[in-house]
Amino acid sequence: MAISNSSLIFPSLLLAVAFAASALVGGGSAAAFACGSGSATKALPFCQPGRPIRERARDLIARLTVAEKVAMLVNNAAGVPRLGIPRYEWWSEALHGVAVSPGVHFGGDYPSATSFPQVISSAATFNASLWELMGKVVSDEARALYNSGRAGLTYWSPNVNIYRDPRWGRGQETPGEDPAVSARYAAAYVRGLQQPSGGNRGLSRLKVAACCKHYTAYDLDNWKGYDRFHFNAKVSKQDLEDTYNVPFKACVLDGGVASVMCSYNQVNGVPSCADPNLLRNTIRGQWRLNGYIVSDCDSVGVFYNAQHYGSRPEDAVAYALKAGTPASPTAHLTKCRRETNDYVSLFFLPGLDLDCGPFLAQYTENALRQGKVSEANIDSALTHTVAVQMRLGLFDGENQPFRDIGLSDLCSNSHRSLALEAARQAIVLLKNRAKTLPLSPSRLRTVAVIGPNSDATTTMIGNYAGIPCAYTSPLKGIASYARTVHAVGCTSVACAGEQPVDAAVEAARHADAVVLVVGLDLSIEAEGRDRFDLLLPGRQQELITAVAKASKGPTVLVLMSGGPLDVSFAEADPNVDAILWAGYPGQAGGAAIADVIFGAHNPGGKLPVTWYPQFYVDKVAMTDMAMRPNPSTGYPGRSYRFYSGPVVYPFGHGLSYSVFTHSLALAPSRLSVRLAGTQTNPLNSTTNRAVRVKHAQCNGLAVPVHVDVTNAGDRDGAHAVLVYWRPPAGHAAAARQLVAFEKVHVAAGERVRVALGLDVCTDLTVADVYGVRRIPLGDHSFEIGELTHTLSLQGDSLQW
Ligand SMILES: *[C@@H]1O[C@H](CO)[C@@H](O)[C@H](O)[C@H]1NC(C)=O
Ligand SMILES: *[C@@H]1O[C@H](CO)[C@@H](O)[C@H](O)[C@H]1NC(C)=O
Repeated sequence: MAISNSSLIFPSLLLAVAFAASALVGGGSAAAFACGSGSATKALPFCQPGRPIRERARDLIARLTVAEKVAMLVNNAAGVPRLGIPRYEWWSEALHGVAVSPGVHFGGDYPSATSFPQVISSAATFNASLWELMGKVVSDEARALYNSGRAGLTYWSPNVNIYRDPRWGRGQETPGEDPAVSARYAAAYVRGLQQPSGGNRGLSRLKVAACCKHYTAYDLDNWKGYDRFHFNAKVSKQDLEDTYNVPFKACVLDGGVASVMCSYNQVNGVPSCADPNLLRNTIRGQWRLNGYIVSDCDSVGVFYNAQHYGSRPEDAVAYALKAGTPASPTAHLTKCRRETNDYVSLFFLPGLDLDCGPFLAQYTENALRQGKVSEANIDSALTHTVAVQMRLGLFDGENQPFRDIGLSDLCSNSHRSLALEAARQAIVLLKNRAKTLPLSPSRLRTVAVIGPNSDATTTMIGNYAGIPCAYTSPLKGIASYARTVHAVGCTSVACAGEQPVDAAVEAARHADAVVLVVGLDLSIEAEGRDRFDLLLPGRQQELITAVAKASKGPTVLVLMSGGPLDVSFAEADPNVDAILWAGYPGQAGGAAIADVIFGAHNPGGKLPVTWYPQFYVDKVAMTDMAMRPNPSTGYPGRSYRFYSGPVVYPFGHGLSYSVFTHSLALAPSRLSVRLAGTQTNPLNSTTNRAVRVKHAQCNGLAVPVHVDVTNAGDRDGAHAVLVYWRPPAGHAAAARQLVAFEKVHVAAGERVRVALGLDVCTDLTVADVYGVRRIPLGDHSFEIGELTHTLSLQGDSLQW
């Protein structure tokens, strides 16, 4: 859909308004919780931690007037002084550390928090235990800030959208292009943040409440006249099922996330935040979210004002709160009750529960008066939000959990070390000609440190960042190993016009080695800012080529960026001896880069996205959501799963200073799939030799895969074992799909066995054109490094 120029100013305006409004509330001195010992309501049921959350939420909501309820439907929810309930700012962010956001107030004794690498870099570690550990540290720091009255407990992180197009300005915030990596990241980070305790899935207490965003098919911000506020993502059922929704499903089912955020864009003509199919049927009905659904900031206003969805504001309220208008509300209500009476959620009609933005506070009372929503719709939304607040302990008075977490937990030594460790694990060695790296510091008198990102600080933390404990820039990191000479070469990453390239060449000429730190920053890729090409901006390429040519010693190129870069010229240039991708490595990034260059850390990161050549983006429109190639139009498809053309570096690429080899210790060669229940007609339950997952007996369909990994090099190192699956041909499935991965540490000369497990009914399935999962019968092959293995899956003839 084309849009006019005037609407392009919309986004920043919106954000500014939302921030300004929320800056007026909250703050360090606000009462942090309800039901304290002095409060008059302490004896009421909603204040009693011993009672079931469901009962407490009902009790509280029953005491509210309509006006009070409506004022609680927005991110800066009003308090209810007569019940001792303080106002609450729902909008806090913690993408890779507690971040600057409306609900977070750094200052005084609490000036900063640990800044981990940007998510795309963390993804490159392929280390799920690290992801969970980082979540835990972030939630420690969040509780420390909360306990001092400086932050809320509801964090709208992580961003788990599939990084479909390399130009996306927010690709840096995501775990990359692969559904399996994104799913595992989502669940691990959410578990780390939330640290659920006590009770079953529905009743567990939470350390903080995470939120998986932005549901769904969102990865276009602002490209050639298309923006996220107007974009209609046309997505096939197949792509939705096996790509876009995968991480969200894992967030809810494996991570137990307490919230999902719907996106601005439309999916197949319906705004995500008003789509009964996406919200009511999928998130609540199928996945059974136990928590609340929040809009992206002002997306209710956006779908009304910019997408003209709803002819009056009150219609938009109804679309949101009811997520569509079901034919028979009460029938649906009964059905939900029956299906999910073990959960806190779904007492009432599901829909959007919380508006980040003012729209619902402004128009819901009118919508109620006009009969477009019922009070039960409002109660439904509040039940979902209030239950989460209760699980967090916000209504427990002084009996709050985690009161012992405090100032000493913020930027503690162990948190800072984890930030350094994460940055080290995130660095990807892309090229290492003739084993140039690691450099030996004792043989170097001076190292020239050159490039627009050579002394980077804020650039290293990317967006949705906090205020870090401290920075170690690349220059500072390298200076701890060798004497440095510094020359920026380009005064900014844009590197346009007159630039001090000559001075940089001169510095390179006189040094024993050169480290060039180049790339991007938020002026090139950011929220609201997609790229148009994949090349290094301005004169950066010229700088690199000239410096590498002048350098008399080894030249190491360090790329700092969230998105992939076409650096084919550097890969081909014999003067560029080594290339590292540092992503946006967080507060300790410079130390980690130096540790890799000088060999204190053996690199083990791998690319979480395909690095396409420039001609890919010349050919492919950013608006084309199809993952699968289309031979009739020449559309090449997206990601390593579907695109088979040339690449600069493939997904999963990453070298080490060691060599790892694999051998198969255990994996079955045959397995039978039985049909479940009374399925008697095999022809009717198989399509193209594939059994519907629903019709299969899934018990006993686990596939153990044990791999021995040998470190044949002379340095200890960590290696990510990646298991790719090739399904039998003929299902319009991915050519190759990552189905399992595990990071393992192997000492030099040693061998370690890695046990991976696959589940036929989840991992070895393809989505058909209706988005229905099927298990293809026939030969499934697996690729693990240089190994291949075939598993023959057959229908059990006795059952047919
Ligand atoms: C499949 O089932 C339908 C009824 O559901 C039946 O009409 C049809 O004949 C069956 N097809 C075969 C091949 O048995
Ligand atoms: C994964 O990360 C954790 C936390 O830093 C670390 O202890 C562990 O060694 C890492 N695993 C591997 C195999 O590197």
